[in-house]
Amino acid sequence: MTKVFWLFGRSGAGKTTLGRRLHQSLLDRKIPVFYLDGDELRHGLCSDLTFTPSARLENHRRIAEVARLAADQHLNVIVTTMAPQHSQRDIAAQVLGERLVWIYVHAPLEVCIRRDPKGLTDARRPGSWTDCWIIRLTCPVRGSGNILLTLSPRMWTAPPNQFWSWRGAI
Ligand SMILES: Nc1ncnc2c1ncn2[C@@H]1O[C@H](COP(=O)(O)OP(=O)(O)OP(=O)(O)O)[C@@H](O)[C@H]1O
Ligand SMILES: [Mg+2]
Repeated sequence: MTKVFWLFGRSGAGKTTLGRRLHQSLLDRKIPVFYLDGDELRHGLCSDLTFTPSARLENHRRIAEVARLAADQHLNVIVTTMAPQHSQRDIAAQVLGERLVWIYVHAPLEVCIRRDPKGLTDARRPGSWTDCWIIRLTCPVRGSGNILLTLSPRMWTAPPNQFWSWRGAI
């Protein structure tokens, strides 16, 4: 059974960077893989959604449904979203079941705030109160999927190799 590796964590932690890298490394090895990044989907499939709690939930439900279709067709799937709330991870788990592997991408809070790729900590930005809360997210360990791994973005060369141990572990 192919898997859905869902990388989640703070904005700026390095999810997209790692996700792209992992995706390329699997393609290089001719392993069928499909990559879904939350920001890219916000431009298309989910462009009608706002950032209210229910819209964020629907965003995750749609991403999970697309991932399920791809996994049903024997593709490994890599997803990258912040997924800061249990409800968002729960809905993904409901859709994906045993295929789902959570991977928490960890970077220290001060590093994320320094990177802050979306300007979430800018108090002048609409919605910044909620987004500040999101960037301050600590590791939400209670996962509703199967496995939760912490991967430091400092391990710059590790992800492709780690993928094999993740696969071996499941
Ligand atoms: N290990 C690393 N070392 C140095 N810089 C990094 C590392 N990982 C990511 N970065 C840089 O940090 C910034 C944010 O990375 P990235 O976009 O991957 O974060 P993200 O977790 O996807 O954030 P968001 O949730 O906002 O999409 C980028 O400029 C990226 O180049
Ligand atoms: Mg990203």
